[in-house]
Amino acid sequence: MTKVAFIGLGVMGFPMAGHLAAAGHDVTVYNRTASKAEDWAGKHGGKAAPTPRQAAAGAEVVFTCVGNDDDLRSVILGEAGAFAGMASGTILVDNTTASAEVARELAAAGAGQGIAFIDAPVSGGQAGAENGQLTVMCGGEQAAFDRAQPVIAAFARAVTLMGPVGAGQLTKMVNQICIAGLIQGLAEGMTFGQKAGLDMAKVIDVIGKGAAQSWQMDNRAQTMCQGKFDFGFAVDWMRKDLGICLAEARSNGARLPVTALVDQF
Ligand SMILES: NC(=O)c1ccc[n+]([C@@H]2O[C@H](COP(=O)([O-])OP(=O)(O)OC[C@H]3O[C@@H](n4cnc5c(N)ncnc54)[C@H](OP(=O)(O)O)[C@@H]3O)[C@@H](O)[C@H]2O)c1
Repeated sequence: MTKVAFIGLGVMGFPMAGHLAAAGHDVTVYNRTASKAEDWAGKHGGKAAPTPRQAAAGAEVVFTCVGNDDDLRSVILGEAGAFAGMASGTILVDNTTASAEVARELAAAGAGQGIAFIDAPVSGGQAGAENGQLTVMCGGEQAAFDRAQPVIAAFARAVTLMGPVGAGQLTKMVNQICIAGLIQGLAEGMTFGQKAGLDMAKVIDVIGKGAAQSWQMDNRAQTMCQGKFDFGFAVDWMRKDLGICLAEARSNGARLPVTALVDQF
């Protein structure tokens, strides 16, 4: 059993922290909207703290899962931030989808205090978080990863160290670039089929067994045809992610014409 803190109880963080508690860890949570932290503590039997610093005090591993780079800085840095409550030798695991740049910035800030930082964005969506079946892509030092991995495993089906700090976020960018174009292509195919008067359930069943098959087709094509789109991943988050990808591409020289186009839709 490890003493852990979880900061950010949104669509993803709430169930992820729940899996940590269910695995037997001693969990203290913090959420900006305090009522959610109280709900969580009531449901999972852990403790709620009034600031990130107080949640992180005494924890061996501190998790964060907030919105974007600035949200992350606001819960980690400063007087009431998580780093202020953490001791030397502890680990901060960040599950937010953020830039590789902020991961490196926070890792440098933590290193000054002897705190290891692992960027650990996730894939698998709300369902993956609720089922404890997320894919976690990590960036950081091997020694810190080896200590954090068994704890992260409470909400994951795969936890992989991709390289140094920032490599987790860069991997998640590849993930989002792959999804953006694919989901647009899928939407166009579904619209075309409907306009052509085809039985779309039959179409999806048939082409889903061939080369057009994808996770998006298996999980989203049917519901797209029914006009259902609310599956816990906000469009604003996807646009935030594509913005991160496009900014990174400007610095590494990759050209992303399809990603840039989909971002404008
Ligand atoms: N949803 C998905 O399917 C999915 C999948 C993979 C990755 N992600 C990524 O995971 C992260 C969280 O996503 P989510 O869907 O869980 O978002 P969400 O439901 O909107 O939750 C965001 C959480 O961050 C907190 N927060 C935001 N800004 C803050 C700030 N400035 N200070 C303190 N707390 C702050 C929110 O607190 P309040 O409760 O007070 O608003 C809330 O707990 C995002 O980076 C997202 O891109 C999401």
